[in-house]
Amino acid sequence: MKQIVISVLAAAALAAATPAFASRQLAAERGCLECHAVDKEVWGPSFRQVAKYYRPLSDGRDRIAKRILAGGAEHWGPDRSMPAQATKTYLMDEADAKRLADWILKQR
Ligand code: HEC
Repeated sequence: MKQIVISVLAAAALAAATPAFASRQLAAERGCLECHAVDKEVWGPSFRQVAKYYRPLSDGRDRIAKRILAGGAEHWGPDRSMPAQATKTYLMDEADAKRLADWILKQR
C-alpha cells in the first residue's frame, strides 16, 4: 500500500514538473539561453527581470509572446536588440512563444 502511495505521488510530482522542464528545454533548444539566463543578465535581460516587469500587467503574457516572435530593441537598455525569433531557420510559432512566455512569467 505504502508503495502505491509513493508511486502515485512520484507520478504526480513528475507530471507537475514536466511542463516547466519542457519549457526550459524549449528555451535551450531555441537558442534563448545563448543570450539570456534565468537569474542573471547576459546579453539580454534575465528572465527573472522580464517576469518581474510583465507579471503585474494584465496583457503581460501576450506582450512577451509578441516580443519573442517579433523581436525588439531599446527596452532594456541602449544598443541592444533581440532578433525576431519567428524569422529564424526554424519557425517559432505562436503556441511556442506563449509556452515560453508562461515559463518566463514563472521565474522568480
Ligand atoms: C541574440 C541574442 C538573443 C537571443 C537568441 C534571444 N534574445 Fe531575448 N533579448 C535579447 C536582448 C538583447 C533583449 C533586450 C532587448 C531590448 O532591450 O529591448 C532581449 C529581450 C527579451 C525579452 C524582453 C522583451 C521586452 O521588450 O521586454 C524577452 C521576453 C526575451 N528576450 C525572450 C527571449 C526568448 C524566449 C528567446 C528564445 C526564443 C530569446 N529571447 C532569444 C537577446 C536575445
